[in-house]
Amino acid sequence: MKSIALIGFMGSGKSTVGPLLAQRQDRPFFDLDTIAERLAGKTVSEVFSGESESGWRLWESRALAAVVDEESPCVLACGGGVILDANNRDILRQSFLTIYLETSEAVLIERLRRGNRRPLLMVADPEAAIVALLKARRSLYEAAAHLIVKTDHKEAVEVADEAQAAVAKLTGEQ
Ligand code: S3P
Repeated sequence: MKSIALIGFMGSGKSTVGPLLAQRQDRPFFDLDTIAERLAGKTVSEVFSGESESGWRLWESRALAAVVDEESPCVLACGGGVILDANNRDILRQSFLTIYLETSEAVLIERLRRGNRRPLLMVADPEAAIVALLKARRSLYEAAAHLIVKTDHKEAVEVADEAQAAVAKLTGEQ
């Protein structure tokens, strides 16, 4: 039985939906950002400011490799940029059942508008950053995923239920 990875843009609901899906799957939930922060011994923001974005990508990739080494299946919420690395995308295709939580640009802009402390969005024009990042990443999320669940205007429980049903359908379990 493979672990389930949730991928998608910042604000797509991976960290909220993840624990709900883990409950339904009766598996532990892990957050890749938290694992990478633990490995780095620093927060995401500290790594971005001290080692730049490329430093964060290395910690993120090491964290993903560490989860693959774990034997018991889990539900893993990945950071939004995990798909930038081709090797990570291969891992997500081969070692996980990967679900892309797809959220539209307009909803992401609305959700990420307030109180955002994510380093990539702490820029003069966060809305333009969201548009550019999403444009660059959309096809990578699609390439890494086995399943896509749309999240616009849905509660987290609804998204978790849909993800659970899609996993059951794909794996032939009920
Ligand atoms: C990032 C997303 C963040 C975190 C880091 C970079 C990204 O995770 O990994 O700030 O590149 O999209 P969330 O998607 O959990 O916010």
